[in-house]
Amino acid sequence: MNTAIIYTSKHGTTAKVAQMIAERLTDSQVSFIDLKKDKHPDIHSFDGIILGTSMYAGASLEIMQRFCKKNFETLKQKRLALFVCGMEPDIIKQQKELAKAYPQELYEYAVSACFAGGEFQFEKMNFFERAIIKRIAKTDKSVSAIKSDEIDKLIMEIINSWI
Ligand SMILES: Cc1cc2nc3c(=O)[nH]c(=O)nc-3n(C[C@H](O)[C@H](O)[C@H](O)COP(=O)(O)O)c2cc1C
Repeated sequence: MNTAIIYTSKHGTTAKVAQMIAERLTDSQVSFIDLKKDKHPDIHSFDGIILGTSMYAGASLEIMQRFCKKNFETLKQKRLALFVCGMEPDIIKQQKELAKAYPQELYEYAVSACFAGGEFQFEKMNFFERAIIKRIAKTDKSVSAIKSDEIDKLIMEIINSWI
């Protein structure tokens, strides 16, 4: 299976989760596409595509939204799985964020979609981000809350339906 993990990340957590997914997809040949570096990738040659974005202020990153719009028809012809990184603590809100992060039709079409958790990396945040997180999350300490079990579920669903 020729698979691409296409992602965008502000502070590196989504890139880290992309790497974790690739390490567990041992039967696939995996390519990484960072949309910040490769804004218009040609995705026709891939059989499977895994999309990943982080969440900011309740929305996925714009670069991913634009990518999905532009490649909508092609993505619908691929084996597709989705994930988001975020630190929303409420499980119901996590699922709402996940459902909103990608176009609805792609979300419904995907074989699996995962809220993969995230990280607060204060050393990488700018002044405004730091102030927002201090106020909302009531912490100024870096923390990692990547959900390894949810990533495992995503992998299992991909393996069961694609490979
Ligand atoms: C200013 C700011 C706003 C954020 N807003 C949200 C949000 O609305 N929902 C959420 O789940 N996580 C939110 N987060 C958490 C990020 O999604 C999380 O830190 C993620 O791991 C970042 O991944 P990245 O480094 O790949 O961009 C926010 C983080 C910051 C710094």
